[in-house]
Amino acid sequence: MGLKPATNPDVEAATIELSIDGKTVTAKDGVSLYDVISSTGKIIPAMCYHYTFDPFGSCGMCLVMQEGKKAPVRSCTAKATAGMIVRTEGDDLFQARKKAVEKHLSVHPLDCPVCDADGHCELQDMAFQHGVTNLANAKQKFIPEDTRSLVLDFNMNRCIACAECINVCKDVLMIDALQFMKKGGFNQVVAKGDLPLACEFCGDCLAVCPVGAITNKFSKYLYKPWQMKKTTTTCNYCGDGCQMYLETKDTEVIRVTSPLSWKNKWGDRADTAKGHGGLCVRGRFGFEYIDSAARLKRPLLRKGNQLVEVPWLEAMHAIVDRFADIRKKHGPEAIAGLITARCTNEELYLFQKLMRVAFRTNNLDSSARYGHMNFVRASKHALGVGRTPNDWEDLTKAKAVVVIGSNLTETNPLTSVRIKEAIRVYKAQVVVFDSAVTNLSKLASHPVLIKPGSEGLVIDGLVKAAVELDLVDEESVKQYPQAYAALKTAVAPLSLEQLAARTGVPVAQFKEAATIFAESPRSIILCAEGIVRQPDGYHNVLKLIDLAWITGKLGRPGCGVNTVTEEPNEQGAADMGVAPEFLPGLASFDDQAMRDKLAKAWDATLPAIGTGAHLMEILKRCRTGQIRALYVVGENPLATLPASAEVRAALDRLELLVVQDPFLTETGSIAHAVLPATTSAEKDGTFTNLEGRVLRVRQAMDAIGESVPDWQIMTALANGLGCQWEYDSANDVQAEIMKLLPGYYNLGQPRKITPTAHTYLSNGYAAGAAARYKRAPSDGQRPFTLQMGQLLYHSGKLSTVAPGLIKIGPNTGRIRMNPADMEGLGLQDGSSVKLTSDRGSLQMGVQLDQSVAPHTCFFPEHFNEPPVKDLMSIHVDPVTGVPSFKRTGVSIEKL
Ligand code: SF4
Ligand code: SF4
Ligand code: SF4
Ligand code: FES
Repeated sequence: MGLKPATNPDVEAATIELSIDGKTVTAKDGVSLYDVISSTGKIIPAMCYHYTFDPFGSCGMCLVMQEGKKAPVRSCTAKATAGMIVRTEGDDLFQARKKAVEKHLSVHPLDCPVCDADGHCELQDMAFQHGVTNLANAKQKFIPEDTRSLVLDFNMNRCIACAECINVCKDVLMIDALQFMKKGGFNQVVAKGDLPLACEFCGDCLAVCPVGAITNKFSKYLYKPWQMKKTTTTCNYCGDGCQMYLETKDTEVIRVTSPLSWKNKWGDRADTAKGHGGLCVRGRFGFEYIDSAARLKRPLLRKGNQLVEVPWLEAMHAIVDRFADIRKKHGPEAIAGLITARCTNEELYLFQKLMRVAFRTNNLDSSARYGHMNFVRASKHALGVGRTPNDWEDLTKAKAVVVIGSNLTETNPLTSVRIKEAIRVYKAQVVVFDSAVTNLSKLASHPVLIKPGSEGLVIDGLVKAAVELDLVDEESVKQYPQAYAALKTAVAPLSLEQLAARTGVPVAQFKEAATIFAESPRSIILCAEGIVRQPDGYHNVLKLIDLAWITGKLGRPGCGVNTVTEEPNEQGAADMGVAPEFLPGLASFDDQAMRDKLAKAWDATLPAIGTGAHLMEILKRCRTGQIRALYVVGENPLATLPASAEVRAALDRLELLVVQDPFLTETGSIAHAVLPATTSAEKDGTFTNLEGRVLRVRQAMDAIGESVPDWQIMTALANGLGCQWEYDSANDVQAEIMKLLPGYYNLGQPRKITPTAHTYLSNGYAAGAAARYKRAPSDGQRPFTLQMGQLLYHSGKLSTVAPGLIKIGPNTGRIRMNPADMEGLGLQDGSSVKLTSDRGSLQMGVQLDQSVAPHTCFFPEHFNEPPVKDLMSIHVDPVTGVPSFKRTGVSIEKL
């Protein structure tokens, strides 16, 4: 059938004219007739059709009359041709469609009262619309329900064989986990090979199933659709910022549904380039943390050795008194604050205002410091903008994508679906450099396995190849002859052969990748954890900017250097100024104009220029006793950082540790006070996703127990400390931000930014260039590289309190290894090993994993049992203060 060309702007097809219901319509030759009809605004029935994938043509509902044909034709699979005369309405068509519905119902179980799709079923709608009343002779199929999957049940008695589930999985997600199989005399949907479903568990098949043949295990037989409150909000797991519907009943979350649905089937590829509306497993099945029994319901104060529940008033009085006392005795520099990038923009803004105005300190940081800040700082330094220049549409329509150090399917699954569409629909060349066999590398045109830790050298190789092959864009370099001369001098000592030996990338592949990137009209670089969370992340982003600059890809539409954010609001944390070096709007902390503006708006004096500490410096000052009180909002440094960061020693020394969180975390359990905060399902606000889109977070239910949104707690704290804040809602905070940062709330649209490297390339570029191409990571002495990273089924530690996700992705407590390495060490799945790094040893089991590259082993960063993170050394970026601790050399011995 092929792709639908009219909806792919890249496909050349003649423009034709045809007649639909007497009106002349223009279309591209060869497009699905159904698409042409729906583009006129006419909606005709279609049960097996969805615009996100190619037509299948099984349900017999989209019938139209085409002049010259005796019988009705299926418009979804018919191709539009010039001069076609088409009629979409009439009694003959109504009767033909009614017959199709009757045929489906003749083998339907009609168990609507106990079907989760009751009231949300296209077959019901079609029966109703066509007046089908004779249901007495329906034959049952008596197919046993397939309940083998962890999240979905398959009831094939209800299946209408529309193949939407199979097609979305194969076409859109490129996973291809489902198939039809003839079983018991019926064509049934089964997981490939009729095995228990083993896939990404995104649930998009569930979303597009027009009947109740696929059901959600987590919400089965609980409520009918109309009994639930449906709230449109933004996912709280990663920076993709997917829109979702939280369906709740009182203070219980029942299920999550997506904009992608069989109900939303009219559109075109221009729409899917911006996102197909689906969700990943975390978004769809990871909601159970919200109403978890483990949620904190009342404030806790330490009394003796115990944290005991107290009323809010008592907790707030105690906290305010102790903060005020410490500030009075030791000055504001003795106080610091950390906040998670899972908070809303409004809360992040209030947090930095609280720290700077109420506590009068600039010791503040967010979880964006764990990596994203490397990208923000490098991009801001070189291009004057601190975020990605491209949105999902640019990514989808790119002709060349270089993915380096990013296992996107695991960290940002819906961004990875954009690259899949770039591959499938727009025929992009995709080069993936990674030290693991990632899901995306299996689909890429150019998968390149690199040695662990060699990402920086790979970039050196790409820049060197671009210079050596003269792939430079004359326009871009001739304006900055000194900078280009400096870059050429910096890379002159590099040898592609030597880089090939150190990275594992053959010289020819360096040249090919550089050529693909340079010669494509729309080229995008996407770097992530393997760059920004590793040593030298800041300089490596600058080197990627060098590559984009010399090949003419800076500032050109559809081109640029991008990253992804792992938490939902890391970009917002930077934009709101939650960092000692930034003010709101990503203005420098020493930007006098912005300081004056804020001082006036806040009626306060800002902390002095030159003061302030970031995450690692805060912890150091806690250890030395300079910082005596720490306010931690949603962060959990004790469980996140390795033992070598000496977090416990830092926290133990504090006179006051206040933790504000929906759960009692490891850090909370040693705090002096713990305040119960709500999750994002119980509050309003906004997140800024990785594209720079500001997206609404909406309150879907009442707060659990006595928990309170973070912004309200911060307001109470500020007022307790002498401020007079009068925020009654998140909207009030938003109004203040709008005044300070005009244009920030361009809701739903990525704000257009124009990177400009002029100042950077004109001043002081040379010295920096020379230094960054001299930096070379050491190859390490131990035979294996231990890598900690993210799993698709989890996000930070938050997902580990979502039972559904734990069921899908449990902590096996075992280290994952490649089969060849296991064989080399005489290991089998389940064998025990001793893992030794420079920081210590650990005994644990081994698990076979094909995706782990040779000479590496992997452990998911979400789990601390056993404490693999404590084998890690920590390296703090001297420019940005970003701590890297996800990779280390290890020896592995069989026990
Ligand atoms: S859950 Fe997602 S990956 Fe699994 S079969 Fe359905 S569509 Fe495919
Ligand atoms: S399970 Fe649902 S989506 Fe899949 S073929 Fe059957 S009716 Fe269609
Ligand atoms: S975790 Fe990320 S990709 Fe998955 S649904 Fe949420 S925002 Fe989308
Ligand atoms: S929508 Fe065309 S046959 Fe089903």
